[in-house]
Amino acid sequence: MSSSNLQISGLGKRYGDFVALAPTHLDVARGEFLTLLGPSGSGKTTLLSLIAGLAQPDEGQVLIDGADVTYGAPYERDIGMVFQNYALFPHMSIEENIAFPLKMRKVPAAEARRRAMEALEMVRLPHVAARLPRELSGGQQQRIALARCMVYRPAIILMDEPLGALDKKLRDQMQLEIKRIHRELGTTIVYVTHDQEEAMTMSDRICLMNGGAIEQLGTPADLYFRPRTLFVADFLGESNLLRGIVDSIDGDTLSVKLERQGVTGLALSNGAPVRAGQQVTLMLRPQNLRISAAGAGGGPSLTGRLLDVMVTGSLTKLYLDPGIADAEPIVVAYPTQRQAEHYAIGQSLSVSWQAADAVAIPE
Ligand SMILES: Nc1ncnc2c1ncn2[C@@H]1O[C@H](COP(=O)(O)OP(=O)(O)OP(=O)(O)O)[C@@H](O)[C@H]1O
Ligand SMILES: [Mg+2]
Repeated sequence: MSSSNLQISGLGKRYGDFVALAPTHLDVARGEFLTLLGPSGSGKTTLLSLIAGLAQPDEGQVLIDGADVTYGAPYERDIGMVFQNYALFPHMSIEENIAFPLKMRKVPAAEARRRAMEALEMVRLPHVAARLPRELSGGQQQRIALARCMVYRPAIILMDEPLGALDKKLRDQMQLEIKRIHRELGTTIVYVTHDQEEAMTMSDRICLMNGGAIEQLGTPADLYFRPRTLFVADFLGESNLLRGIVDSIDGDTLSVKLERQGVTGLALSNGAPVRAGQQVTLMLRPQNLRISAAGAGGGPSLTGRLLDVMVTGSLTKLYLDPGIADAEPIVVAYPTQRQAEHYAIGQSLSVSWQAADAVAIPE
């Protein structure tokens, strides 16, 4: 048994001249939770449909447990699917809905009923078995769709924006529910979302897509702290992006002379090849910046005038004028505390960071 459950090899899809998916390679491990993340039109649903067999590729292969299923019918693949519109059968009871895939697979009625009830327990809705779909809330219907997909224990479950239609609170609950079920069943899940927070919370690995190709594949921390490109840095979470020129290189650590204020600061390489004299962008996460009254001493720092203070619940954010026309303000964030230091609007502040908290992204 190979450890990779799903192998995608050189898989590509065009619509006329338009490349919806450039030849793509991707290995998904058994039991992994992999999320396809990316802006609208980046090819997430296209890739999922090719895995499911709902669309045919122009090139490449899909292997499940080493077997080539590229041109096999959807039902020949050991795959379950959950989509954004849960599409329950309106005239069937919840129990019949869940038992349906088993009936199609000729599982005896008593056995099907037992397993449907088990799946209902799994999504914590055993009491709705006799109801019709319209007698359930949106979140409950979504859980039934999940139960219906799990009931025949597919090796791989594909989910395309399954929580898109739910409000924030229900989404959060369902995220936990899906994670719990994933842990309990050990199913391989390929999940699609364009919500970066959802991707960060749920995934073992994120496959960030852009324009029909993989931009970066890695753990949430890889993408968040070591983005390979500006697109990745910008797509995941808030960041300060500062342009500069590499001054010198010492192993993994680069010394970078910033355009702003001519300050030289340290940053880690993002792993891409880089040389002295090259243009790079430094990425600094707001929560990794330290703030002090200007001229307080210490390492190299940027200074700026305080434009605004925003308390966004658990985080307090400071916006500093970088002193350059048209440049974005520098954002600094720290946990909101009752007895926080008080800064005055217009006050001049220094911002500093440690090399480990800055990443240099070569142009
Ligand atoms: N049947 C089709 N015919 C022509 N173009 C298509 C077809 N299906 C998808 N596309 C195009 O392929 C590109 C990728 O579409 P896809 O549905 O994979 O995007 P997505 O990443 O799922 O986006 P979203 O987040 O909006 O769901 C889009 O530009 C889309 O217009
Ligand atoms: Mg889509």
